[in-house]
Amino acid sequence: MRKNIVVAIDGYSSCGKSTLAKALAKKLGFIYIDSGAMYRAITLYFLRNNVDLENHDAIADALKHIELNFHSKDYESHITLNGEEVSDEIRLMPVSEAVSPVSAIKEVRKEMVKQQQRMGKSKNIVMDGRDIGTAVFPDAQVKFFMTADPKIRAERRYNEMVAKGDTSITLEEVFENIAHRDYADTTRAESPLTRAEDAIILDNTDITEEEQLAFALDKVQPFLHT
Ligand code: DC
Repeated sequence: MRKNIVVAIDGYSSCGKSTLAKALAKKLGFIYIDSGAMYRAITLYFLRNNVDLENHDAIADALKHIELNFHSKDYESHITLNGEEVSDEIRLMPVSEAVSPVSAIKEVRKEMVKQQQRMGKSKNIVMDGRDIGTAVFPDAQVKFFMTADPKIRAERRYNEMVAKGDTSITLEEVFENIAHRDYADTTRAESPLTRAEDAIILDNTDITEEEQLAFALDKVQPFLHT
C-alpha cells in the first residue's frame, strides 16, 4: 500500500479534468501534474524536428533528446521542453491535431509512464490524463473518470480559446477535434482510454465547478488522515 496519496483523473478531451485537478491540488496542498502536457510537448518536438512516426529508431532517438520538466506557478502547471517554456504553444491547433497519433506510439507511452510514475513515487499528487488510473497508478487511492456532453465540452473549450484571443478556429472545428480525439483515444491499441473498474464516474454536463470540486473533495477526504 503506497504511503503518499495519488488522485488519478481520467476522461475524455476537454471535459474539465485539469480544472478539477488544479482545484483539488490547491485545496489539498498536493502537486498537480498534467500528463497530457507531456504528450503535447513530445508532439511539439516531433513536429519541429519532422520525426517520422513510422520510424521506430528515429522515435527512440528523439526521446533520448527530450527533457521535460514541470514548474508550478500559482497551481498553474508550466512545462518546459529542453529548457524552453512551451505551455502556450502546446495548446495551439497544430499540436492538438497531431497529438493523438503521437500518444498512440508504444515507445512514447512507455517513456511517459516511467517519468510519471517517478513523479508520483513519494509525493501527494493529483495527475490527470487518459490512463492514469489504469496504467500509470493502478493503485491510486482515488480515481475519477470524467465525462460531459461533447457539445458542451466544445463550447467550453471554444469560449476558453476566444477568451485567450485565439479566433483562428470555429466552434465546429473545435467540436470536430474533440470528437476525433475521443475516437482516437478510446480505440488505440496502446492503453486506450477506459474507465478503471474502481474509478468514480463524474459527469459534469450539468454541474458547476464548485459542485464538482465539493463532490471530489468528499471522495478524497477519507484518505487524508490514514
Ligand atoms: O489532456 P490533453 O487533451 O491535453 O491530452 C492531449 C492528448 O494526449 C490526448 O488527445 C490524448 C493524449 N494523452 C494520453 O494519451 N494519455 C494521457 N495520460 C494524457 C494525454
